[in-house]
Amino acid sequence: MTRAVTLAVGVAAALAFLTISAATQDRFPDAPGRTELLRVCSECHEAGSVLETPQTAEAWSETLATMARQGAEATDEEWRLIEQYLDANLALIRINAAAADEIRRTMDVTKAIADAVTKYREQNGPFKSVDDLKKVPGLDAAKVDGRKERLIF
Ligand code: HEC
Repeated sequence: MTRAVTLAVGVAAALAFLTISAATQDRFPDAPGRTELLRVCSECHEAGSVLETPQTAEAWSETLATMARQGAEATDEEWRLIEQYLDANLALIRINAAAADEIRRTMDVTKAIADAVTKYREQNGPFKSVDDLKKVPGLDAAKVDGRKERLIF
């Protein structure tokens, strides 16, 4: 692309982004993938509708496939960022059922911490509460508190 075209495309994208209401944008936590999600997911309906149907990581993955079939367009990297954003910031967390990889993505922790969660669960039985979960060695309590609404026990 020439510089002029690149600039024009950039300006068009910025304008499209600005038309998403500030109120809607405020409801999405600031994290990697947010810009891509707000842009790609407001083409056909309000991006806000993404917040109206809480879903597990697996369900989000299926929803993204459905949206792609509906005609949603994004690069592979944008799809990856959007899924990562949904998993880390919005997905319901099946703390007693999810495998370590799903815990890693939805709790937004390292593989070692995710393994510590599943190991603790195996040794002590299902987690019963937020406070119970905070007993996992190395798991940041603030991270757990920030996800209170998303945890399924
Ligand atoms: C090309 C148009 C289009 C784009 C772009 C689009 N959607 Fe949709 N979306 C639809 C249509 C049509 C429906 C309602 C029908 C349905 O559910 O299949 C819908 C419904 C939804 C719903 C509610 C129903 C459900 O399946 O849970 C969610 C959530 C959703 N979209 C999320 C997203 C996300 C996330 C993105 C960005 C990756 C996105 N959409 C981008 C067309 C689109």
